[in-house]
Amino acid sequence: MNPEVSHKLPKWFLSFPVTRLAEPSYPLAGQVTQILTEKLRGVENFHKAVHFAIREVIENSFEHGQTDHCYMCAYSVPSKQIVRLCILDTGIGIPESMITSQRYPDLRNDIDAVDKAAEYGVSSKSDERGIGLYLLRDVAEKNEASLTILSGKAKMDISKDIKKTLLDIAFPGTMVNLSIKTRRDFYYLSTSDWEEL
Ligand SMILES: Nc1ncnc2c1ncn2[C@@H]1O[C@H](COP(=O)(O)OP(=O)(O)OP(=O)(O)O)[C@@H](O)[C@H]1O
Ligand SMILES: [Mg+2]
Repeated sequence: MNPEVSHKLPKWFLSFPVTRLAEPSYPLAGQVTQILTEKLRGVENFHKAVHFAIREVIENSFEHGQTDHCYMCAYSVPSKQIVRLCILDTGIGIPESMITSQRYPDLRNDIDAVDKAAEYGVSSKSDERGIGLYLLRDVAEKNEASLTILSGKAKMDISKDIKKTLLDIAFPGTMVNLSIKTRRDFYYLSTSDWEEL
């Protein structure tokens, strides 16, 4: 979404306009979550999931992207009980980060790399990590969500099914787009992994 459009959203949208972040900020992630979920149903896990997604994706940009900034914008549509959020960086991208780490020598292309990065316990940094993208993907698959991860030549669209596209032209960085809905009765959360949140 370009900045002009994001400032002109209808009044019934609760929005966080395109913003450049110069560091990962937990308080900001909390504020944005509050803005986005203010008029949505009070399902506790939903708030946690949105907060987690924002924190995790922003942290990834700074930690793995080798960049000093990223961009975020988001809005919610209370009448549809939906939150949409986009976080983008112009860093080295997931494929480059995974391939240069040499921890996963079997990666053949950018899709392999992004697919691998979203598996449980897969990290270019250490054996003890690699849960962020997995949890994000898990939430998208098990809820009424749609998640797009675009990085290098890989585009992954994840909802109940996963669609993987190998692009002709590489996206110079990483973009994560999440669209997620609350539900009245139940919201999936993998509690053992999320206990610390
Ligand atoms: N924005 C990004 N830019 C470059 N590489 C990324 C980005 N986001 C993720 N990655 C790559 O994908 C891998 C998996 O990410 P994920 O968030 O699942 O794990 P992690 O950040 O390494 O560990 P954890 O999230 O558990 O602290 C990262 O180790 C990194 O190599
Ligand atoms: Mg992470």
